[in-house]
Amino acid sequence: MNNPLTVKINDHLTYIGVNDRYTHLFEGMWPLPDGISYNSYLLDGKDQVCLLDCVKIPSVDEFLENIYSVLGDRDIDYVVVNHMEPDHTSSLPVLVERFPNIKIIGNKKTKDFLDHFYDLTENILVVKDGEEVAIGNTSLTFYTTPMVHWPESMVAFEKSTGTLFSQDAFGGYGTLDGAIFDDEINFDFYKDETIRYYTNIVGKYSGQVVRALDKLKDLDIKTICPDHGIVWRKNPGIIVDLYAKLAKQETENGVLVVYGSMYGHTEKMAEMIARSMAEEGISNIRIRNISEYPLSNLIAESWRYRGILLGCPTYNVGLFPPMANFVATLTKQKMKNHTLGYFSSYSWGGGAEKEFAAFAEKCGWDLLETTPNVQGSPKKEDIEECMKLGREMAAALKEAYPDQYK
Ligand code: FEO
Repeated sequence: MNNPLTVKINDHLTYIGVNDRYTHLFEGMWPLPDGISYNSYLLDGKDQVCLLDCVKIPSVDEFLENIYSVLGDRDIDYVVVNHMEPDHTSSLPVLVERFPNIKIIGNKKTKDFLDHFYDLTENILVVKDGEEVAIGNTSLTFYTTPMVHWPESMVAFEKSTGTLFSQDAFGGYGTLDGAIFDDEINFDFYKDETIRYYTNIVGKYSGQVVRALDKLKDLDIKTICPDHGIVWRKNPGIIVDLYAKLAKQETENGVLVVYGSMYGHTEKMAEMIARSMAEEGISNIRIRNISEYPLSNLIAESWRYRGILLGCPTYNVGLFPPMANFVATLTKQKMKNHTLGYFSSYSWGGGAEKEFAAFAEKCGWDLLETTPNVQGSPKKEDIEECMKLGREMAAALKEAYPDQYK
């Protein structure tokens, strides 16, 4: 049956993934304004057929339609579970029911998850790191990539065509709108969403991403088939380089100012600090109101810019709650290569400044000396303190990026 939504990648490989424009929040918390794709692939080794990763359960009908349109009445011998997160496995029990002879390929940890998530305990082929499994006239070799993105995560490599099935790695948010290959797509449309995906989902495990990239560096990779987003067949180096840059946390010259404000005083401090940096020649400045701007985007922008300035009023003797949440998230993200400044305000008793100081100690970033803490609205000496903080950040950036200030 002709189905243009299944796309040939090479003679024995077909894309059979689906788009999701209904889920508002990925993992229940990360906004999906441009949706997301769940990619799946059918590898036809003539005598044997193997499916690589599945899709989220609401799309199971479309998924099965794609499978049948490629296979007709042929059976599926194997399904590879490179990653157990349910966006790729919640349709697996339906698949197993439809294809009762199917054997699930996973590693030891996958096997445990299959039991815990779906009561699947039979017909499982457990593979070890580096093991090769024949699929008819071709084969797949498996490499474990723990914590990219879960403990059981692994990738599969088909060496005759140099195809890497990379599961979450090298993926991004955003549906595949007609085009699926990198040479059919303007990556500028996807780059920001790829960065947001990386920083939201995988960023905390950047150390493991670096190790995974190192492990795969000797493979002759010609095509990358991730579980989300673009299939890279022309220039896979673009996405590998972007992931390597993000994993190494190479920050850019610029400042993210994140503030919370109840009645405008802390907001005014943020504006003054930003003006002071602009007067010193800093041109990449973003001011974000924490009550209005999504946490997901704040994480992506924090990842990007070297300078981070945080400000908020005291609330219940501590940080303004949205800021407390943001600071806790930053702590868990284990970010590196940043210069931090903070500022605060209070009405009758402080507290925010102490929690900012505790965060500064925990994160280990370079800390700026001036930390304005204003009672009520900023007065003359407070304004000078804010301007001083801005000048300190500007000086730190000029020291970090001397070539950009010649
Ligand atoms: Fe796309 Fe970690 O799941």
